[in-house]
Amino acid sequence: MHKKTFYITTPIYYPSDKLHIGHSYTTVAADAMARFKRLTGHQVHFLTGTDEHGQKIERQAQQAGKQPQAFVDEIVTWIKRLWDIFDISADDFIRTTEERHKISVQKIFQKFYEQGDIYKSKYEGWYCTPCEAFWTERQLAEKNCPDCKRPVELVTEESYFFRMSKYTDRLMEYIEKNPGFIQPVSRKNEMINNFLKPGLEDLCVSRTSFSWGIPVPFDPAHVIYVWLDALSNYITALGYLSDDQSKMQTFWPADVQLIGKEIVRFHTIYWPIFLMALGLDLPKQVFGHGWLLLEEGKMSKSKGNVIDPEVLIDRYGSDAIRYFLLREIPFGADGHFSETALIQRLNFDLANDLGNLLNRTLAMLNKYFAGRVPTPGKREALDLELSGMALALPDVMEQLMDQLQFSGALTELWKFIGRANKYIDETAPWALAKAGSQERLATVMYNLLESIRIVSVLLLPFMPRTPERIWQQLGIAGEADILSWESIRQFGVIPSGTQTVAGSEVLFPRLELTEEGGAPVRQATKKDKPLAVAKEAPRVEEAEGLISIEDFGRVDLRIVEITAAQKIEGADKLLKLTVSLGKEERQVVAGIAKHYEPESLLGKRVLFVANLKPAKLRGLRSEGMLLAAADEQGNLVLVTTEKPISSGSKVK
Ligand code: ME8
Ligand code: MG
Repeated sequence: MHKKTFYITTPIYYPSDKLHIGHSYTTVAADAMARFKRLTGHQVHFLTGTDEHGQKIERQAQQAGKQPQAFVDEIVTWIKRLWDIFDISADDFIRTTEERHKISVQKIFQKFYEQGDIYKSKYEGWYCTPCEAFWTERQLAEKNCPDCKRPVELVTEESYFFRMSKYTDRLMEYIEKNPGFIQPVSRKNEMINNFLKPGLEDLCVSRTSFSWGIPVPFDPAHVIYVWLDALSNYITALGYLSDDQSKMQTFWPADVQLIGKEIVRFHTIYWPIFLMALGLDLPKQVFGHGWLLLEEGKMSKSKGNVIDPEVLIDRYGSDAIRYFLLREIPFGADGHFSETALIQRLNFDLANDLGNLLNRTLAMLNKYFAGRVPTPGKREALDLELSGMALALPDVMEQLMDQLQFSGALTELWKFIGRANKYIDETAPWALAKAGSQERLATVMYNLLESIRIVSVLLLPFMPRTPERIWQQLGIAGEADILSWESIRQFGVIPSGTQTVAGSEVLFPRLELTEEGGAPVRQATKKDKPLAVAKEAPRVEEAEGLISIEDFGRVDLRIVEITAAQKIEGADKLLKLTVSLGKEERQVVAGIAKHYEPESLLGKRVLFVANLKPAKLRGLRSEGMLLAAADEQGNLVLVTTEKPISSGSKVK
């Protein structure tokens, strides 16, 4: 059978400076999409690259005291490495300074000229060099570029012009008839109302006042306008007008072209008109996503290294950054980037929800079945609910991905992870073990392992490294037939008898925020500020047994996470626990053994007195106290938080 093809592109980046995390946004999204389509059996072609010509680059090279080619070569090498560490699975990387591109662009220009779409005249008007865009007097915003608001320059030079006006009506009709072409819809309306309805001016497509560009083949004093040069990359990379047209035949028209919203005009007006003039089909969809903003506004280089993708990857790992970018912001909308938000996603979604599901499952499997996948028995209603949800997930996610709803797809996946975690609480394997219900226990454990297998495969497009680490622990790495798209349409394929490797590795260690909520305390040292303490000596309000706020402040109350729990030989009321305060771990001996099974405590976040004098119980050191509520019937429950919050958070 013939495989369905899928061609996806990112913009080609200006190699004028190192890229920041905002630039990675488009490419990470395109990569997730490309991987998703490969997973679902498509023949994918994923293109990215660099946009290396034009006045902006020429000037920046000059400032750096370098020849333009040497200047871009260095940055392109850096960009390629960045995509490498981000696990970008591009099938091709096009540079507009490559021969294959230059030759094809010259042929395109020649063709336009020969068929009468291009004529020579003189340009007098405004130019924004950072955007490489021409503007008329009336389009300017208070004498500045209406897009980037920076100063424009007056340009007077001989130029070739492209007859945009000739194609305006055809393009408007096309856009109206193909509502999916420009996405999201708001961007389509903007294009129609602000640019097409008022009528298009003919576009200046060559320059003579500088030389860093592709020469016009029949008039080499002119270089081809950088946007005509750049936009063509999407077809020159497929070999358009070269000796080998096979990729053009296989992949054109593109299925999805991803771009940021500030370049929608170039991609939904100029680009389709060039394609119409070439007699080629238009891309099926151009999607203009929103911007990643810092609290203070759009990102730029000057705003510090927090937005340097290399620094971020180094600190958190590429999978975590990819997850954050794709999950945090609905594609299309603007969103904020902050390290605090990143750490919270990492802690709640990755360390807690996903990490705990794996850890709890494998720890119990280890304990009850020596880490070996058991043979399941009959499924009960609760099991069928779980497997039903798992089996629906691939289609649900595929539909969302087809609408480029990365965040929506991940939300669905995390709903299922949440469901599986709840299934542990509902089935209480520790109680089954205690009651000797071996068959039921085997079924429950098996269903959990299957759930994790399905989750891991669905994670692949978004976080390409994490699944492999999960498979290692599950003992199924390399078992391609149970890690395919087809295999997750079945529940019950992980072989019984598979030996898992529990606790070999923590998937995502929890990270802590500083008091300012900024950088993580991973690099914390002894010099860190101590937590706030009462400044004055406390005064006890003896009358009426009341205490002052300062008295209360002497108690260092914190949220801690229980990371280990075990019974103590010969002490039937006590459990030995390890709790995490984020920066440190403590050992605590708690009198709760009659009320809680050790396994049920893992991952729970509870209130904790952190500055209690250490004590020794049964020879074990106890450094702090968990808070619990007890009623008159002898029930005892631990005090937890209303919503998840990082370990070590102060209770006040
Ligand atoms: O525009 N948030 O290149 P470029 C989200 N060479 N996306 C952002 C962003 C942010 N803060 N900052 C940049 C060009 N981007 C042209 C394209 S295509 C034929 C030529 C995105 O390096 C931006 O929206 O300025 C664009 O999609 C991409 O990074 C490349 O930007
Ligand atoms: Mg830009």
